Amino acid sequence: MHSLTDELTARLRAVAGVDPELRPATKPEFGHFQSNVALRLAKDRGVNPRQVAADLVTRLNVDDICLPIEIAGPGFLNLRLRPDVLAQAVNDMAADPALGVTALEPRQTAVVDYSSPNVAKQMHVGHLRTTIIGDCFVRVLRAVGTTVIPQNHMGDWGRQFGMLIEQIADENLDLDALDLPGAEALYLRANAHLDADAAFAERARARVVALQSGDEATKAVWRRLIEISLTGFNATYQRLGVLLTDDDIAGESSYNDMLGPIADDLEARGIAVHDQGALVVFVDGFDAPAIIRNSAGGYGYDVTDVAAIKHRVDDLHADRLIYVTDVRQRGHFELIFGVCRRAGYLPDSVTVQHVGYGMVMGVDGRPFKTREGTAAHLDDLLDDAEQVASPAIALAAIKYADLSNQLQKDYVFDADRMTKTFGDTGPYLQYAHARTAQILARAQLENLTWGGVEAIAEPAEIDLALALTGFGGVVTEVATLLTPHKLCIYLYDLATKYSVFYEQCPVLTSEGATRSSRLALCAATKTVLATGLRLLGIAAPDRM
Ligand code: ARG
Repeated sequence: MHSLTDELTARLRAVAGVDPELRPATKPEFGHFQSNVALRLAKDRGVNPRQVAADLVTRLNVDDICLPIEIAGPGFLNLRLRPDVLAQAVNDMAADPALGVTALEPRQTAVVDYSSPNVAKQMHVGHLRTTIIGDCFVRVLRAVGTTVIPQNHMGDWGRQFGMLIEQIADENLDLDALDLPGAEALYLRANAHLDADAAFAERARARVVALQSGDEATKAVWRRLIEISLTGFNATYQRLGVLLTDDDIAGESSYNDMLGPIADDLEARGIAVHDQGALVVFVDGFDAPAIIRNSAGGYGYDVTDVAAIKHRVDDLHADRLIYVTDVRQRGHFELIFGVCRRAGYLPDSVTVQHVGYGMVMGVDGRPFKTREGTAAHLDDLLDDAEQVASPAIALAAIKYADLSNQLQKDYVFDADRMTKTFGDTGPYLQYAHARTAQILARAQLENLTWGGVEAIAEPAEIDLALALTGFGGVVTEVATLLTPHKLCIYLYDLATKYSVFYEQCPVLTSEGATRSSRLALCAATKTVLATGLRLLGIAAPDRM
């Protein structure tokens, strides 16, 4: 659907000759949209801007969309949509299953790398953010017609498995009885053992070699540790209500067979060089190189991410790669992107975006820790929030708090504030949605097909209708720039406009076309709020 803003922009550009940079008005008295194009043109030509504005208005024909255009101050153009046009725009959205959300062209395939917890460790607060943010990206990108391939780059490989497997043997541990918290406790014991006992450390090293060379008994224990961890992760995913499934897992170990050939290829082409016994790739602008193979002949985190990019480009045919991790990993990814561009593994036609998020802080302003001083477990955090609210509300609160600020900022996990049903919170939006559901239920119109907005005249109705028509544009913006807080701001604004409308415009007690039109506005608001919340991964129940 061609949006009203697009249409107005096109017509204004035709008479102005340049992009009019039409923007939502900053104040209600400036109409619905404003443009400073006359000021810019006048400056270039050295003429009076109000004169330029008047000339543009004479030549511009938008009577079918707008009320008469106002020229304000030094020459701003203030445009106000006609109420009947707004009503029609809301009805057009109603008739469109995509609610005015248009596909991003050209159609893309995007890989979203997110969550990615580590085997034998419980997910901690950092994994909460990547899991919630990544889930939102998947939903929003699908809404704009992108083919999304989630990739859970689970940490299922590495030196730690040597000590874990030796510790299991030492303790004669029953693997059938082990769960994820148990595996994490084992991890801590193995670590302490490693520090205290040189012979154990030696056995752990030998066990890593056995694992890498495919020793069956060793691999069986390794597989069992992954299975135990996955059971734990999946329980958390289910609790969080995210879309990830086992099909999305592409753990670090899945790239093992690619690593040797990649090292050979990079070395043969002179891209990788030997440095202090290791095989590395230097990238301009970075102090340290990417490690392709360490001096002990082992492969690690860097080269695994190189392989992951190659797989995603060559085999998954992705043209957009998105990574959601802690902001502190930005340097790692920039370096890996540089290596892959140099090596030709990442053609210019493929875009990469690393989305780094800030830390989760406690109300004391310090990084969120357990009483014992370790990074808080994700499940403990969920428990905390559920102390003050039902699970559905607690989850809405957490997700909204996570997504409603600029992602790279730290955010304060304040369960009391986040779960409030007023103010800029997830539960407030859920309540706003439930109120729309209630009014429709009282009018016995649960299944109202929500076209039928007409005769809108009250300012609160017009403001609400205008807000509704902005949905498609916001979703496109979020899909492009990966800024979920913009969707949060939009939904909060919509809910606020709805509550002003609800106060100022009687719905059930009005009559005739006014009543049906207002009910249609309620239904439209309900659908847009529910859809928007769903894109954030937040449930929108009809009753709270
Ligand atoms: N497992 C890592 C961690 O917990 C995150 C992995 C992110 N994804 C990647 N392709 N490196 O910090």
